[in-house]
Amino acid sequence: MSFTTLLILAIAPAIWALDNGLGQSPPMGWNSWNRYTCDINETVILNNAKAMKETGLLELGYNHIIMDDCWSKRQRDPETGKIVPDPEKFPNGLEDMIEKIHNMGFKFGMYSSAGKYTCAGYPGSLDYEEIDAKTFADWKIDYLKYDNCFNQGRSGTPLISYQRYEAMSEALNKTGRPIFYALCQWGEDQVWNWASTVANSWRITGDIYDSFDRYDIRCPCETYDCPSLQGYHCSIMNIVNKATPLAQKTGPNSGWSDMDMLEIGNGGMTYDEYLTHFTMWAVLKSPLILGNDVSNMSPEHLALVSNFDVIAVHQDVSAPANRIWKKPFVDSFVHLFSGALSNGDWVVAIVNEATVPLVEMSIPFSDIFFDNRDNAKFAWTAKDLWTKETITAARHLTVDVVPHGTQVWRLQKSTHNSHNSNYWTGHNTGHNAN
Ligand code: GLA
Repeated sequence: MSFTTLLILAIAPAIWALDNGLGQSPPMGWNSWNRYTCDINETVILNNAKAMKETGLLELGYNHIIMDDCWSKRQRDPETGKIVPDPEKFPNGLEDMIEKIHNMGFKFGMYSSAGKYTCAGYPGSLDYEEIDAKTFADWKIDYLKYDNCFNQGRSGTPLISYQRYEAMSEALNKTGRPIFYALCQWGEDQVWNWASTVANSWRITGDIYDSFDRYDIRCPCETYDCPSLQGYHCSIMNIVNKATPLAQKTGPNSGWSDMDMLEIGNGGMTYDEYLTHFTMWAVLKSPLILGNDVSNMSPEHLALVSNFDVIAVHQDVSAPANRIWKKPFVDSFVHLFSGALSNGDWVVAIVNEATVPLVEMSIPFSDIFFDNRDNAKFAWTAKDLWTKETITAARHLTVDVVPHGTQVWRLQKSTHNSHNSNYWTGHNTGHNAN
């Protein structure tokens, strides 16, 4: 390598994403929309923040409290031009609530839209970027979810959309306050190709719906590259299928595909379906933003979103897992995901999308380590991140997955094995390794 090449490498920027220093791993937290829609006020938000703290979720990393749409009055202040918080919803003032949230140890997330109005018809920030960014920074926000409604036709090409979102990015940077910038542009105009230089995360689909795989015409596209209408009422598997090819566009040095807020606890899915929802959002590195009433959450659902091992994979400073294959299985499909973690461990997940159990399917290491074939030669200690059972496996893993369920392991290279020894072949039914 020449001296000039070395010099260029030495001065090349290490961070290619929006350089606000945020988002080396995807954010975690809570958002008001999925459970409360417009029915928000100070009590709802503070009660959920308190519950997040009391249940230990804050300590586990869920450190953003994000207030969604419908927080302001219908008109800007005619004199200052600022958006005005609704005094009936926030009788003590929004700043007072934000201070209380900060004092509990959380970061605070705000919502606006790159349009004339927000999706619910409140004032949006299009062409008011500087004044709104300054107002938000004065209120000490730490995160901005920035929607796409009422954009006055300023979309339809990547460049036009980029410029509309870039305006707020620049306005936020100008405030000098580090603010995580979360685009909510629903995957229009190939947002994954241009968002990373202006934002920390970007929504890639229409709005989520609390259903595992129900087809709904209101979410008309089955693939990510939807020509126009992204819609809403998108099921979990619809979103997984859209996010999977886009895994290559996200990572610690670019930013994160946002698969939308979680539905766990809202009642539309079984425990196993919620487990798949949570595991997929974690291994694909979507933001993990709870969207339920945390103050009234079942112990089962609380335990689900508190799985430390799954959160550790999500927060690992590495790119998302990739889907190695998706194979027909009875009335649906089985999916294999695999990805390297920053310390050399691997995460492996098998999703059973079908309505019958998957029994003793052997997954060869040549598939699991398709992206690093050398690894297939070794024995690996495999920890099931849901049952917590650990086995040592070589050459393959054997999987059993309930209908609509997911099995996920963290694999660590075994220290004392090679192919010639007498290996245990992986099986997740509780046997110990020899
Ligand atoms: C859009 C967004 C949702 C939510 C609503 C609020 O539909 O995609 O996540 O913020 O607007 O009106």
